[in-house]
Amino acid sequence: MTRAAPSLRLPLPDPDATASLGRWLADRLGAGDVLLLQGPIGAGKTHLARALIQHRLAADGRMEDVPSPTFTLVQVYDTAAGEIWHADLYRLTHPQEVVELGLDEAFSTALCLIEWPDRLGSLTPPQALTLTLAADGEGRSATLTGPADRLARLGAPPQP
Ligand SMILES: Nc1ncnc2c1ncn2[C@@H]1O[C@H](COP(=O)(O)OP(=O)(O)OP(=O)(O)O)[C@@H](O)[C@H]1O
Ligand SMILES: [Mg+2]
Repeated sequence: MTRAAPSLRLPLPDPDATASLGRWLADRLGAGDVLLLQGPIGAGKTHLARALIQHRLAADGRMEDVPSPTFTLVQVYDTAAGEIWHADLYRLTHPQEVVELGLDEAFSTALCLIEWPDRLGSLTPPQALTLTLAADGEGRSATLTGPADRLARLGAPPQP
């Protein structure tokens, strides 16, 4: 018998709910955490990452744009609580590029938010949390999966 992976499921009826989940995660994740953001084009991956990063920047008294890393592949934010790496790997053609970008090292030293994480292949960190966004009516739903002890330490996410 196989056991289902531990997971938390959340309805996200509107973009504010996605942003609020991002801010909730911002208060609970830190250096060495890897959040894999899964979901199709337009699912809200960047929207969630932007809210998370801006919440962490606001803690340092900073208000900054957080552009999508669509073309740069990686944007790095230096915060008082450590670096945040925001990556969009859609355009990656080979997992070796992950090493060239320095992402494999950042997995253990920074908080990493990764869009299109399927491109990581065998370089996917085993301890990573995965947030999957899916269309749900006019809104989205989110499912968070990962190691049971890590999920337990996160506690209950906000209900919209
Ligand atoms: N819960 C939600 N309900 C409805 N719309 C949402 C929700 N969350 C985010 N959105 C909207 O989805 C749109 C697309 O979001 P976003 O650019 O973050 O997608 P993405 O997953 O990063 O896409 P890509 O794969 O192209 O990078 C945005 O306009 C955002 O406001
Ligand atoms: Mg995006």
